[in-house]
Amino acid sequence: MRAHMITYGCQMNEYDTHLVQSQLVSLGADMVESVDEADFVLINTCAVRGKPVEKVRTVLGELRKQKGQRKLVVGMMGCLAQLEEGQQIARKFEVDVLLGPGSLLDIGKALESNERFWGLQFKDELHEHIPPPPAGKLQAHLTIMRGCDHHCTYCIVPTTRGPQVSRSPDDILRELDMQLAAGVQEVTLLGQNVNAYGVDGGAKLAGYPSFADLLRMVGKSGVRRIKFTTSHPMNFTEDVAAAMAETPAVCEFVHLPVQSGSDRVLRRMAREYNREKYLRHIAEIRKHLPSAVLFTDIIVGFPGETEEDFQETLSLYDEVGYDSAYMFIYSPRPGTPSYKHFQDLPRELKTERLQRLIAKQKDWATRKNAEKLGSVQEVLIRGDAHSEGFLEGHTRGNHPTIVPKALGATGAGIYQVRIEQTSPHMLSGRILGSDGQPLPELPRFTPEAAAVMGGLPMA
Ligand code: 5AD
Ligand code: SF4
Repeated sequence: MRAHMITYGCQMNEYDTHLVQSQLVSLGADMVESVDEADFVLINTCAVRGKPVEKVRTVLGELRKQKGQRKLVVGMMGCLAQLEEGQQIARKFEVDVLLGPGSLLDIGKALESNERFWGLQFKDELHEHIPPPPAGKLQAHLTIMRGCDHHCTYCIVPTTRGPQVSRSPDDILRELDMQLAAGVQEVTLLGQNVNAYGVDGGAKLAGYPSFADLLRMVGKSGVRRIKFTTSHPMNFTEDVAAAMAETPAVCEFVHLPVQSGSDRVLRRMAREYNREKYLRHIAEIRKHLPSAVLFTDIIVGFPGETEEDFQETLSLYDEVGYDSAYMFIYSPRPGTPSYKHFQDLPRELKTERLQRLIAKQKDWATRKNAEKLGSVQEVLIRGDAHSEGFLEGHTRGNHPTIVPKALGATGAGIYQVRIEQTSPHMLSGRILGSDGQPLPELPRFTPEAAAVMGGLPMA
């Protein structure tokens, strides 16, 4: 079998793709790079907004055409697969295999079956089958929990991924050991709401540390950098900020989705905190980590959002001074309370507010990134950038960063970089040697440069 996977959605989905890919390989499949080479195409779907759902429809439409012309098995997994909406789409586009986020290990059974196979149960043993990360990858994701116990009125995730289930600390540390043995230097702890780790369905699990203590534990493993995502402000505690500050490996980066700056909207979203409580958490983070890089998620045009409410979101942005934000237009999702009970605002109004928010985000990102000019940042270089002769990576604060290759620094690794240029989207600079001086740049675009680079050991 030649299999190809297409992944939409969040980091959780990337992690699940990695899991399923390794299952496919152990079943004897060859993973191929394109749809055309494959006789099994599996799409890992996202259901959080309408757009990713539309993309899946388009791809499935294409695949259905191809099915008429050659032997092709089509599969759909992930969040959309779990929903009635996804199952309707699957029927319409003649999907053969459907696996919800809790049934991924049924992939073997599904491929053996001669008829349509739909797996939609939530099973517990997913984590026992996590493969080691691919060789040479310095970064890895590590799922510490699945599902979510909150019920934000706009969000489909509790339906697609089920209630929160924390993974045992032993399991987490075992997977971390495997990642470290494979050479991983930066691990991102993943969960819908990592701050609620160890408290499932409102009950504290015996023998499970708090999230703050989990950070301290992971910090002792020897991993060079630790990040985590995502945090719900409701479950954020000052101890998390304290643990971050006292654990050198934990990066000074916090992604704390606020969604709106208006108490009225937050209440309708059932976010379980208000503006004041949110700002208190920001103050706690800044107290322990004055240089913390702050990211957030914002939804504009939630049903009933007035101009006044939106102004409060803008003023909150200024009050916090975010480094950056993921900004979304409210997308009504069938199956969510807000879809059922509230009237969607006109498209133009939502788009116009998004434009104003983007202008604000760009303004702050320009300013915040400019503050990094001249500073030295620890950059994890992943490998070659798009432009020849350059490498790309990211800082501890998650800023995408570009540097020219230098003598002794031509590939993946963690380097000190002096920032020489900034934009709202990225930083660029020069790699420093152990004496704090820039390493000599390699001459670019010449055969001689290629020869020199070829002859150098990888950093
Ligand atoms: N419409 C728009 N954005 C949404 N998000 C979640 N559900 C919706 C929706 N129905 C956003 C939230 C969340 C991020 C992952 O996606 O901001 O934090
Ligand atoms: Fe990730 Fe949520 Fe999309 Fe599922 S619905 S892929 S959890 S963002």
